[in-house]
Amino acid sequence: GVRRPRQRHQRSVRSAAPAPTVTTPVRQADDPHSRANVEAFHTRHIALDLSVDFERRQLAGTAELDLERIGAGAPKLVLDTRDLQVEAVAVSTGEGPWTDTPYALGERDAILGSALSIDMPADAQRVRITYRTSPQASALQWLTPEQTADRKAPFLFTQSEAIHARSWIPCQDTPGVRAAYDAHIRTPANVLAVMSAENEPDAPIDGDYRFAMPQPIPSYLIALAVGDIAFRSTGPRTGVYAEPGIVDAAAREFEDTEAMLQTAEGLYGPYAWGRYDLIILPPSFPYGGMENPRLTFATPTVIAGDKSLVSLVAHEMAHSWSGNLVTNATWRDFWLNEGFTSYFTNRIMEAVYGPERAEMEQVLSAESLRQLVQTSKDPATLVMAPEHPAADPDDAVGPIAYDRGSLFLYNLEQTYGRERFDDFLKSWFQAHRFQSATTEQFMSFLDDGLIRRYPGRYSMQQARAWVYESPLPKGATFPKSAEFDEIDQQRDAWLAGTLPTDELDADGWNVLHWQYFLDRLPGSTTTEQLSALDQRFALSRTHNRILARSWFIVAIDHHYQQAYPAIEEHLRTVGRMYLITPLYRGLLKTPEGLRFAKRVYATARPGYHPIAQTAIDRIFADAEPTKS
Ligand code: BES
Ligand code: ZN
Repeated sequence: GVRRPRQRHQRSVRSAAPAPTVTTPVRQADDPHSRANVEAFHTRHIALDLSVDFERRQLAGTAELDLERIGAGAPKLVLDTRDLQVEAVAVSTGEGPWTDTPYALGERDAILGSALSIDMPADAQRVRITYRTSPQASALQWLTPEQTADRKAPFLFTQSEAIHARSWIPCQDTPGVRAAYDAHIRTPANVLAVMSAENEPDAPIDGDYRFAMPQPIPSYLIALAVGDIAFRSTGPRTGVYAEPGIVDAAAREFEDTEAMLQTAEGLYGPYAWGRYDLIILPPSFPYGGMENPRLTFATPTVIAGDKSLVSLVAHEMAHSWSGNLVTNATWRDFWLNEGFTSYFTNRIMEAVYGPERAEMEQVLSAESLRQLVQTSKDPATLVMAPEHPAADPDDAVGPIAYDRGSLFLYNLEQTYGRERFDDFLKSWFQAHRFQSATTEQFMSFLDDGLIRRYPGRYSMQQARAWVYESPLPKGATFPKSAEFDEIDQQRDAWLAGTLPTDELDADGWNVLHWQYFLDRLPGSTTTEQLSALDQRFALSRTHNRILARSWFIVAIDHHYQQAYPAIEEHLRTVGRMYLITPLYRGLLKTPEGLRFAKRVYATARPGYHPIAQTAIDRIFADAEPTKS
């Protein structure tokens, strides 16, 4: 489908900053990851009525779509679906009764799913699809009670980003279309349902739940979780949902959420979504966090006990502006979501926890970019807005969108100074509220709002190099951290043998310091040195999963066998891809590692989310090209 973002001339907003005028033509955002004919119809509202069946691992019910016709009389509406069993389709004029209409499901593509083509009479404005999901639906993970923290009730959660909404809702599954939604969700009577919508914090647990999301959002932000879920308030408009056994620890860990929200509003304008709540999911949640509006979904591995990983909350919260308010028009423009959010996260962290903490997190981000650039074999994969995006948009999650993207914005901030840059970002969010935006729209906004407004500091050519070329631009500025400089000195001395392990001064270190220490250990580090480190600091037994990840990567690289039982336990109990995919990748580099990884994966795989299963199946397939 071809989507034409109607070009709008921004009138100057006289409040914070004069809004620049868009003068250059805007690329048409054609989304290669959707079959929907968005040039003919836009969904304006979705009404879901779904029953949650844990025995059959199935959602069943109806989705009603209110449609706006763009241009004249297209005879068919095309929606995205994947593995849906469609039972009936009916249309209505809006007021009139429902009448059945012919429809056809197209051939199934492994990544895109099947297009659902629906005959649309000229006066039809609404369509109702009666359907069931497949037990294999890629967005859904169905957990038995044994797979939850409290082991009492089954659990279900969705993950719709990037293109998995279509596996549980027939829809125009492209971030270029926004719709409001409401939902009626029926569950067994002993579990609670929550959604990325207005939730009643004190809803009675009775198996019958209603939700409304009045603001228009893209399909990838529709989300549902069902389980034995309790709630604790952490502030006037913030709180946390989690299984009863961990909800108090979660409320303590995230007590600064309201402070973060106030900081964010101070930077880039009012929070647009009412409440901001978190839900802590079981450990198989495949991401660290997911910015579902009003209700961030998060991994339990973020509860470290010392708030050392709460930048994840700042990150998902920042998406309330970058991503949820101003949305990437297609997955090619993904860096507009994640690069902006990573930059914004760091500003929140600086304001709430101080510049030293923020600098460390910035350096770690630049480090993961540096490592990727160093090891990458294909320069095309280093481009932020590639001409030909990945076949599967889930594959674009990595340091390019996040860390290259935020480093670009950090360089702009350094060039123009904070005040001007903040005014500029604020006007970007203001001018594109509740819209989707392309990379090219941002580039012309940048040209008008900074480059030509304050001439002689930066060029469009430099900006284009960040976005469209692979090498990092010459003269790029990198963040620095004094605390990390000290760690470099200790690491060097320890490696050279002039600083004995017993005298390493790690008393004040948290996970960030350890990450920096471990991620930069050279290949020449000996197993004796690793063993001494492990004995003194019990690294293999750490409860911090981010620290464990860094340590296990080193252990695997150096075949440090003593850590393998802990690695096995980690791979079996955690499903967050960031924490496990680098370990599988490392293990698959040697025959012994491959044997170990295969054995562990055979038992761990059924506990992973379908998205993680697909990602790790791919890692194995790439490592052993079919030998049949
Ligand atoms: N929106 C992403 C997660 C995502 C991206 C899901 C693409 C599916 C496709 C989320 O905001 C995110 O970036 N999560 C990170 C958090 C981290 C950077 C603090 C994660 O899960 O690790
Ligand atoms: Zn993100």
